[in-house]
Amino acid sequence: MRTQVAIIGAGPAGLTLGRLLEGAGIDAVIIEQRSAEYVLGRIRAGVLEQSSVDLLRQMGVNQRMDAEGIFHDGIELSFDGEMLRVNFNELIARRVMVYGQTEVTRDLMDARTASGAKSIYEAGDVHIHDFDGETPRVTFTKDGQTHQIECDFIAGCDGFHGVSRASVPPSAISLFERVYPFGWLGVLVDQPPVAEELIYAHHKRGFALCSMRSLTRSRYYVQVDSTEKAENWSDDRFWDELRARLNPDIAESLKTGPSIEKSIAPLRSFVAEPLRFGRLFLTGDAAHIVPPTGAKGLNMAIHDVMELATALQEFYGERSDAGINAYSGNVLENTWRTERFSWWMTQLLHTFPDSGDFGRRIQRADFDYLAASRIARQSLAENYTGFRA
Ligand code: APR
Ligand code: PHB
Repeated sequence: MRTQVAIIGAGPAGLTLGRLLEGAGIDAVIIEQRSAEYVLGRIRAGVLEQSSVDLLRQMGVNQRMDAEGIFHDGIELSFDGEMLRVNFNELIARRVMVYGQTEVTRDLMDARTASGAKSIYEAGDVHIHDFDGETPRVTFTKDGQTHQIECDFIAGCDGFHGVSRASVPPSAISLFERVYPFGWLGVLVDQPPVAEELIYAHHKRGFALCSMRSLTRSRYYVQVDSTEKAENWSDDRFWDELRARLNPDIAESLKTGPSIEKSIAPLRSFVAEPLRFGRLFLTGDAAHIVPPTGAKGLNMAIHDVMELATALQEFYGERSDAGINAYSGNVLENTWRTERFSWWMTQLLHTFPDSGDFGRRIQRADFDYLAASRIARQSLAENYTGFRA
């Protein structure tokens, strides 16, 4: 088998890249180790920046998003129950859209199926070869047989645990990482959201987030210790803990019910440098991880592959290496900007085991500064809605 671009992974990064390359007339194959159903079963965040919404529209995968996505003008912050609204629309004339990553993934998969572009799911033992030369290869097994795809480029869209980054010699790559001493316990429930906008709550018992998937389905999180297990959290325990961290009026209007999903996600900040190794490119979670506090993971992945698709279009259309040479630097600039914001939101809103009373007073001062300064709120708004230099 031969293709121009072999895309490893059918998460949002791989599927978006596939769609963009299809639009540009560049041949690509997606190789994914899991089944499509498994990929769609993963529950992830659900906030799209305007630029992500624009791209999905431009790619023609916007029908359901436009019907079901909900535009939000801002978010609410809560500090020990004290509320502060940050109105992005009023501050900087920008908004975000609430539409689940799972839905984005489904829409992209459906579009790919409809167009007949090639995807290989349940590929076993995926390996990448020879990306330091002109003819890279991908090998994998499927239905008991070994297959090989020759290509011009490999796009590593295979997430944090994928094979792409792991195939780079350790001496050629630098890794920067912070692992936080806590995770998020998340619950999905078929009940209307407690508020019209998302509520990010700092509380001395720990962080909490009230989010949503639709007007009838809500997503809630509480910060838990890294050692916690979801099995130890009955629904009642979860709701009691969430209420304890919210403003009392909000807590009172919370509509609870049996959870339809409950899981713990660890929090991590991570960046790999560089992001290009000969004819291999890293994108999305394979390249970087942000803690979910800034709702940036999906938007970063989309930004990366837009950059990569443009670079590959230049390569094939104009025989120019300029885009592929600039890819790593351009993406890393956006990555570190977004890492900083996600880290800052995380340290403002969570309880850190070792930060002591001084740390808590600094968090309070940060919150008070946001409450007092329009410029501080504009900065938050600019980053949350997606800053591009
Ligand atoms: N071979 C083939 N596919 C693989 C391999 C492999 N060796 N390893 C992993 N994969 C697949 C995974 O099964 C997954 O479907 O790559 C895909 C990577 O998808 P994601 O983890 O969703 O990563 P990405 O597409 O970069 O999307 C980033 O997802 O994790 C969230 O917060 C993150 O929103 C962000 C987004
Ligand atoms: C979510 O709805 O799952 C969600 C929303 C915003 C975040 C993180 C997660 O910052």
